[in-house]
Amino acid sequence: MSITVFGSVNVDLTAYVEMLPRPGVTSHATNYATGLGGKGANQAVAAQRLSGSPVRFVAALGPDAFGARARALLSKFGVSDEDIIILPDEETGIALIHVDAASQNTITVVGGANMAWPEQGPDPAVFHGAKIGLFQLEVPIQASTSAMRAARAAGTRIILDPAPAPERSSTQDINSLIRLADIVTPNESEAEALTGIPISDCDSALQAAQVLRASGARTVALKLGAEGLVYIDHYGSEGYIPPFNVVAVDTVAAGDCFNGALAIALAEGRLLPEALRFASAAGALATEKPGAASSAPYRHQLDLFLNEVNQYSS
Ligand code: RIB
Repeated sequence: MSITVFGSVNVDLTAYVEMLPRPGVTSHATNYATGLGGKGANQAVAAQRLSGSPVRFVAALGPDAFGARARALLSKFGVSDEDIIILPDEETGIALIHVDAASQNTITVVGGANMAWPEQGPDPAVFHGAKIGLFQLEVPIQASTSAMRAARAAGTRIILDPAPAPERSSTQDINSLIRLADIVTPNESEAEALTGIPISDCDSALQAAQVLRASGARTVALKLGAEGLVYIDHYGSEGYIPPFNVVAVDTVAAGDCFNGALAIALAEGRLLPEALRFASAAGALATEKPGAASSAPYRHQLDLFLNEVNQYSS
């Protein structure tokens, strides 16, 4: 399917709790799980499950026990470790996650090897022949810039999820990444961080998308969670994708699944509105299962879901 993902890989340590942690309070979790995470790895697994063909996943691990665990999990998901580098002096990235009874979450990422990529980024050859390149912000901006330039040089269409929400101080640097991307896919908090516009509805989301376009983004798809999605394409046309009705138990990695699915839909030649609807459905399905990478749907599940939704609405 010729997709290359450059980004983070973590081992996610998730505690399922009644209430999210509060300062000074010790509480018991109802359940605990470790799994594969990191926005890059989650995108790679989603893209591979939805296409049924291998994707190239370019990431960094440390030479430690979490690194071995991440490799084993990647292998379980069928993602090749051919483009994974081991940084001898770094620790593998981890994420400490809490998910509460209302399926809200907090995530603390310890980037480790993910944040130790050299400025030149990965070998540019990882983008040769790639139709779509997927990027996020859990690796250093300089390494992403180099990688995105290599992708552009290879004629690869670039999707950038500017997640996690950048610090206000780094928005200038992020803007330079945004200018290298073909499609930028923030959620509300990321769009707010990048534009300073508080997002409360579709109108304010479209306003933020306009600001992102004015700062150099070509196409913006702004994810509004349970409210759906607004987009402005590279001609400046605006659109809205309504949300899908699902029962969310864990929203961790739903955005990553959305991006993996968007890459597949575009690589298959779908037009933007249809590709965004496909991706939104994939993200919605991911919220119905706990976990990060493991929550991505398989293609037959997504096709069945979309068929059912289409039948109901026709
Ligand atoms: O987007 C969810 C991901 O964010 C988690 O898997 C965690 O590892 C962090 O990177």
